[in-house]
Amino acid sequence: MENALNLDTVLLSDDEKAVVILDQTLLPNECKFLKLDKAEDVWDAIYKLRVRGAPAIGVCGAYAYFVLADQFQTDDMDAFVKKCTEIMEYINSSRPTAVNLSWALNRMHAVLMAEKDKLSVADMKVRLKKEAHAIREEDVQISRNIGQYGFELLEKLGKGVGIMTHCNAGTLATAKYGTALAPMYIALENGWDGKKDLHVYCDETRPLLQGARLSAYEMQAAGIDTYVQCDNMASYTMKSGKVGIIFVGCDRVAANGDFANKIGTSGVAIMAKHYGIPFYVCAPSSTIDMTMESGDEIHIEQRKPEEVTEMWYEKRMAPEGVGVVNPAFDVTDHSLVTGIITEKGIAYAPFKESFEKMGIKPVEKFVDKK
Ligand code: MRU
Repeated sequence: MENALNLDTVLLSDDEKAVVILDQTLLPNECKFLKLDKAEDVWDAIYKLRVRGAPAIGVCGAYAYFVLADQFQTDDMDAFVKKCTEIMEYINSSRPTAVNLSWALNRMHAVLMAEKDKLSVADMKVRLKKEAHAIREEDVQISRNIGQYGFELLEKLGKGVGIMTHCNAGTLATAKYGTALAPMYIALENGWDGKKDLHVYCDETRPLLQGARLSAYEMQAAGIDTYVQCDNMASYTMKSGKVGIIFVGCDRVAANGDFANKIGTSGVAIMAKHYGIPFYVCAPSSTIDMTMESGDEIHIEQRKPEEVTEMWYEKRMAPEGVGVVNPAFDVTDHSLVTGIITEKGIAYAPFKESFEKMGIKPVEKFVDKK
């Protein structure tokens, strides 16, 4: 089984004409890469979760911005800006909850707007490519830093610790290392024995099974003692005393520390509080949206009923015509959060003050405005 750290989730193709993604819908059974050079194909790949995880869709958005802008043949900067605005708005409409997609598109667009009067269209294209590469490279370092802070928490708990996680916030969800799974990769780099020193419990994460298919694959392939549990087994495992800490990822954190993550996360946090288990959110600072005061403002993506009633089953398993609830994310209240691990350090309540001390500020928004 290939160590997932060796797989590049999102890249620019060698000829620089396409975004290359690892198709995560096929994992863990098949490892297939897709070349995307049409706006509709990028949109579809993000919507269908072929590329997924907040930072990974941000990197994909940045490369797509460059690839699609590069195809537009013109010397007229105004026409180029108009085209780039259309690209940004279209790609951003693929998924609404993870702020990283709009964050990366906004960052690309901010470069365009700041330098459009100084550069030719040809030079601007080179500049945009450089920015997209920078977004990817920075993501690797950010994830490593988050992993390092998380590993320090594991060290305090000692070898043999049990870690619970929900969904997949691993290397597959980022450019490399991941956020919530990064502490375990860093533990291995520090000589911890994956089979004895780390025990990872992955919620399967209904309905799209990112925990069972992706986190379990990543952790097992890295040589870590790994368990998959149905989401409704989490309380049992927590009560057994096997879980020393919980790490989850996030898709958007509001200024007060409320955060959206994969559906089911808020239930995990409520249980963790009940059992007195430390609950940490792993968040690149790009996921912290200081323009939103609280989680009430976060737009929650609603998805197709078939993901609940038909996918993964040989035959439809729920009665025809029944109503279906299928929100992709939920919002966890900041009062349930022990700490938010960023690449700049760990934020504690009151979170807004903590974020401000780290220098995290609202960013300029061209899309995803309130
Ligand atoms: O719908 P998904 O699979 O994109 O949801 C992913 C999550 O909820 C992750 O926990 C989050 O994006 C953080 S990834 C580092």
